[in-house]
Amino acid sequence: MKINLANIKKAKKYLKIDECIAIPTETVYGIAGNAYSDRACKKIFKLKKRPKNNPLIVHYYDYNNLKKDCSYNNAFIKIYKKFCPGPITFILDLKKKSKISKFVTNKKNTLAVRFPKHTITRNLLKKLKFPLAAPSANLSKRVSAVCSSDVKDDFGKKIKYVLEGGKSSIGIESTILDLRKKPQILRLGGLDVSTIQKVLNKKIKVNNNPLRISVPGQFKLHYSPGVPIRLNVKKIRENEAYILIKKKKVTKLNYYFLSKKGNLQEAAKNLYSTLRKIKKDKYKAIAVCKIPNKGLGKTINDRLVRASKF
Ligand code: TXA
Ligand code: MG
Repeated sequence: MKINLANIKKAKKYLKIDECIAIPTETVYGIAGNAYSDRACKKIFKLKKRPKNNPLIVHYYDYNNLKKDCSYNNAFIKIYKKFCPGPITFILDLKKKSKISKFVTNKKNTLAVRFPKHTITRNLLKKLKFPLAAPSANLSKRVSAVCSSDVKDDFGKKIKYVLEGGKSSIGIESTILDLRKKPQILRLGGLDVSTIQKVLNKKIKVNNNPLRISVPGQFKLHYSPGVPIRLNVKKIRENEAYILIKKKKVTKLNYYFLSKKGNLQEAAKNLYSTLRKIKKDKYKAIAVCKIPNKGLGKTINDRLVRASKF
């Protein structure tokens, strides 16, 4: 997408006066504010109706900007060099001298950090003197936003400005990785675990049980379109919308395809927009076919299981 410098200037103007705006990233859109400002961070929680104990991810241009806020080890450098900027979030130790607002972390001594790849947001981050705290731009517990109109549907006039960045190319949130001790995944996401494993040359534990509430932010009910969902469905019931992984020869009005040929990356990209579309089309129930549990299929299944706890 072409960079519109006037839009970036406008975004910067709002952020400098502690306003929150929506920003595009390659995973999902975020509600961003100055991560060094208590005022801006408090506003993010209020806008999202987010519980105060659910900490925010902070977005940096690159790791030179991160050095004053966090410490990190060699494993971080290895993964950073290979995958950043990109769809991965690291849990790091926060430095005592860091200027990160206590509202971001809920007074924890760790920080979730990410280096988004989207060219527009990278351009914005490069121009700022502070990093951006940004949770996904959806109301708490609901489906994330993957384009500017999704953000406007959720927040209307409450959000001062949405920086246009087209449709998110990955369409599902970042993978959260904690490398401080034994590597562990805290949230499956847009970067496949096996790809990270290959680079680290180590097995990574996935600590992502959707039915456990104790892991920060990984609440039981999440990513819900506000419509009940049934999974692994072969035969649908009357009046259900049916989500299929692959296009069928014969189609019906209530069939929604995630991908033409069953490509899991394409399916992940289309998942949230499909859930939102079905809701807009006024279906009262959703059935989903079996999704292969490999690669990004694991992330898709993780989100669907959480969404089905509605
Ligand atoms: O792709 C993404 O990660 C998007 C884009 C906007 O960057 N952001 C996003 O943020 O998904 P959010 O707030 O919706 O999800 C962040 C998750 C939450 O589940 C939160 O609990 C967890 O990260 N988290 C934040 N700080 C943490 C920390 N210090 N330790 C463990 N988990 C943390
Ligand atoms: Mg979220």
